[in-house]
Amino acid sequence: MLVLGTATLKTRRQFLALARAAGGVALAGGVASRTSQVFGGQADTGTTSLRGIEQVPQRQMLNPMTLTRFVDPLPIPAQAPSDGTRPSPRNRKVQLPYYRIEMTELAASLHRDIAPTRQWGYGASVPGPTVETRSGQGLLIEWVNKLPPKHFLPLDHTVHGAEADKPEVRTVAHVHGAKVPPESDGYPESWHTPGQSRTLYYPNEQDASTLWYHDHAMGITRLNIFAGLFGAFIIRDPAEQALNLPAGAFDIPIVLYDRTLDRDGQLLYPVSATPGAPFVSEFYGNAIVCNGKIFPYLEVQPRRYRFRLLNAANGRHFNLTLTGSRPLHQIGSDLGLLQSPVELRSLVLFPAERGEVIIDFTGLDGQELQLRNDADDILQFRVLKKQQPAPETEGARAERARALPAMLRSIPRIPESQSVRERILTLSEHDDAAGNSMQMLLNESHWDMPVTENPVLDSTEIWSFVNLAGDAHPIHLHLVRFQVLDRRPFDLFAYNADKSLVYTGPAVPPAANELGWKDTVRADPGMVTRIIVKFEGYIGRYAWHCHLLEHEDNEMMRPYDVISPIRRAPQ
Ligand code: C2O
Ligand code: CU
Repeated sequence: MLVLGTATLKTRRQFLALARAAGGVALAGGVASRTSQVFGGQADTGTTSLRGIEQVPQRQMLNPMTLTRFVDPLPIPAQAPSDGTRPSPRNRKVQLPYYRIEMTELAASLHRDIAPTRQWGYGASVPGPTVETRSGQGLLIEWVNKLPPKHFLPLDHTVHGAEADKPEVRTVAHVHGAKVPPESDGYPESWHTPGQSRTLYYPNEQDASTLWYHDHAMGITRLNIFAGLFGAFIIRDPAEQALNLPAGAFDIPIVLYDRTLDRDGQLLYPVSATPGAPFVSEFYGNAIVCNGKIFPYLEVQPRRYRFRLLNAANGRHFNLTLTGSRPLHQIGSDLGLLQSPVELRSLVLFPAERGEVIIDFTGLDGQELQLRNDADDILQFRVLKKQQPAPETEGARAERARALPAMLRSIPRIPESQSVRERILTLSEHDDAAGNSMQMLLNESHWDMPVTENPVLDSTEIWSFVNLAGDAHPIHLHLVRFQVLDRRPFDLFAYNADKSLVYTGPAVPPAANELGWKDTVRADPGMVTRIIVKFEGYIGRYAWHCHLLEHEDNEMMRPYDVISPIRRAPQ
């Protein structure tokens, strides 16, 4: 079904429409933007014959719809064990917990009926072990690259930072959402190669939240994360603990991502039809993977649970629902608790976003319900018949007896008057002559152009993302937390004519579940999305970027500097 003329399709939408009309069986979730992209030449029916790729050996695509559902228990990533202590880089007299996390090649089965899949993981699993700590408890992680010297996914040496003179396998770990000194942030160019390690310092001076760690190596982040280099990082704090939310075995991270596999169970990452330039501008797989399994199940007690949902996909966003349109109660977003729980029938998570929800299975003894992405099953909850004699703590007993607190954490809105500067920043996609989406830019600038965003430490700014492209882009800023102000439709033609921002409608305030602290915001097409940010923490160089990993790898990422107030030139 990928046998399509390449010349006549101008947009991805047209292509997707065609793919769907063609009965796009295997690619239920759509495919990437380069119109003639293929999965290494494989096809579901084995009949593909695309110009220019005949030399590629055929790899038959697995159709996940044929898999038996709910035969594998949901894996819950192990807690990362600490390996003793090391002196704090801030004060050598203070000892901090020290973790050593090795990146290795591994084979793990994504489903009972699929052969083990070659992946790259932190620790020995995908997702990697969950790092758990508390607010204010600094720690050190030694990230050890023990990967093989050759990449197993299609590198594109024409992508900036991934040139042929660079080592194929490069890694740098970044803790997404962490407020860390710049030298520990995992700057994309600070990569290291197999046999090397880096010890980074995480002060964790921030609220309880669900962060995640993942690879960030320049030009190959999409491939390293696709290979499996990610895991959860949880910070707790006393204010949150005092709420007696479901804890321990009832507090579970759920990491969601999509993949495409061949019939031998091996990862298939698509390639373009351009020889020597396999980059594709987006990836959407047809199998949704949940903590490392396709269609897993989880046995639950008839009680409340806290699930920390994390979208670790390259490009897909999830629209999560429960069967029977049962409600989800969202209690937290990217960087911690919301002010109050928000009842939802569906939860949308763009790449890198987190949503913490309470699901109440009380009274559902013996029933089953599914977590779904739109109409597609992801995970089945099997509610056990009666309370199992599990050791229950005081807190858990108290929690069970009580209603969900109406007030979780005070989140005062940052007044716009606090902003000292507004930056208008465009998001754009640039096509090649054939109309294929080739490159995405922030403010029409490439990664290695001089830094233009240089907020002063402790100052507050408004960043307005003017989305000139046809799709939503999840924009992430390192180091900081921010609030979403609004989204407002504007006249694209007027903007393109003379860069004037002409609004065509009123500003749309953020949804109730977007009123918490965020580090990633969905910038909708045709809208100006405004955020307000206080640049707290550290002086130094960080990055901001689109979290669609293909975009991030192909220039939709920029460095930014937090500068010292005293270094600022007099005005
Ligand atoms: Cu999730 Cu720049 O990272
Ligand atoms: Cu993007």
